[in-house]
Amino acid sequence: MTTTSSAQAAIAPSAAPQPSLSDIQAVVFDAYGTLFDVHSVIATAEQLFPGRGQALSLLWRSKQLEYTWLVSLMGRYEDFSAVTRAGLRYACSALKLDCSAEPAAALMDAYRFLKPYPEVAEALRRLAGKQLAILSNGAPEMLDAVVANSGLQQHFVAVLSVDAVGVFKPDPRVYQLAVDRLGVAKESIAFVSSNGWDAAGAASFGFHVYWINRANAPMEDLPGKPAAIIESLAELPALLA
Ligand code: LAC
Repeated sequence: MTTTSSAQAAIAPSAAPQPSLSDIQAVVFDAYGTLFDVHSVIATAEQLFPGRGQALSLLWRSKQLEYTWLVSLMGRYEDFSAVTRAGLRYACSALKLDCSAEPAAALMDAYRFLKPYPEVAEALRRLAGKQLAILSNGAPEMLDAVVANSGLQQHFVAVLSVDAVGVFKPDPRVYQLAVDRLGVAKESIAFVSSNGWDAAGAASFGFHVYWINRANAPMEDLPGKPAAIIESLAELPALLA
């Protein structure tokens, strides 16, 4: 399926019963790829390895996510900072780039300064009537840094890391964290992610999911379908009004 136009954005592909939107009390956001552009690291990568920045960023992100799923299946949690470092080592090795200590440190540091997508600050301002939180794979220190450096801190009542449960998304224990910490029933939580597999996991758990299809990707063929597909966070305040 292709991405919807703005006019179609609120169409629900899900057969599951939909809660009344007036029941939505909290909006929980994925961090990487949803609020913050992980490919902001291309600028640093390009300086270090001219002409290879984009390839490095894409393979790094893909390995980082793959490793979250694999270590979870092995029952061996390592935090997102360790998994991100391991993904970077693999990507550099596969692309034959010399990521010795100094370039690796510069690239890891770039993760603390990822840029929020342009519409994020205004959308969060317009959603101020609801409890807003982040629920991310990120290690607490990485998340605190990127949120503080983006200046978005004041919008959130909580920044929740999977670290508290020692397993990565899409394990249901991760999504339960938001229910427990916010004290809101899962049906009354809108969850927003650009990562199709995260949107599927959150919908399977029972959240009311908005998938921001930033990459114009087909829908994941997994259990758990989003309630709606949007193109940008700018659409969300009107949908939840
Ligand atoms: C996160 C990953 C999915 O922020 O990007 O949890």
